Amino acid sequence: MSKVYTIAVLVGSLRKASINRKVALALAELAPANLKLNIVEIGDLPLYNEDIDQGTPPEAYSTFRQHVSSSDAVLFVTPEYNRSVPAPLKNAIDVGSRPYGQSAWSGKPGAIISVSPGAIGGFGANHHLRQSLVFLDVPCMQQPEAYLGGAGSVFDEAGALSEKSRPFLQAFIDAYGKWVEKQSG
Ligand SMILES: Cc1cc2nc3c(=O)[nH]c(=O)nc-3n(C[C@H](O)[C@H](O)[C@H](O)COP(=O)(O)O)c2cc1C
Repeated sequence: MSKVYTIAVLVGSLRKASINRKVALALAELAPANLKLNIVEIGDLPLYNEDIDQGTPPEAYSTFRQHVSSSDAVLFVTPEYNRSVPAPLKNAIDVGSRPYGQSAWSGKPGAIISVSPGAIGGFGANHHLRQSLVFLDVPCMQQPEAYLGGAGSVFDEAGALSEKSRPFLQAFIDAYGKWVEKQSG
């Protein structure tokens, strides 16, 4: 049997009714057989502070780092806040990047999908995030780019994925499955 890669999925919105979380869950269902997607929660991570990260770090930091380290790859599903990366997601990235020299991100194949009800699909957040991933040595899938705009209509009132959006998400997650395999090979 071919390898199944575990994917740490980070959702940039903490909202219960988050469209991004729904997209992450939809991607988990659409994922090809070689990927297993698990959402890693970021909402309980204290704001990164080197002072509390000395000696024994907060349990939430250690648990988060362990989740990312033990995954084969990482997937970011995020809204855009003020044309950039939402603070909880940037905080999670910072937590995972420390202690210095022991970054949990290093070398993990990554991909980003930004999701917004707005017309430009969170382009600013998507590209600001890419900037951090370059520094963190996360090889990030280039194509297909995924800016999911008009996301207010991606799910119907019952929460079902619209048939219009399904092919886009399917193509994205299929390409990511191939990308992870290629990078890990
Ligand atoms: C603080 C804040 C800033 C926002 N800034 C942007 C923005 O720059 N671009 C954008 O497209 N939407 C922006 N939005 C709207 C979000 O895209 C929208 O609330 C979206 O539904 C959030 O994703 P979620 O449904 O997964 O929580 C902003 C929302 C908040 C709360």
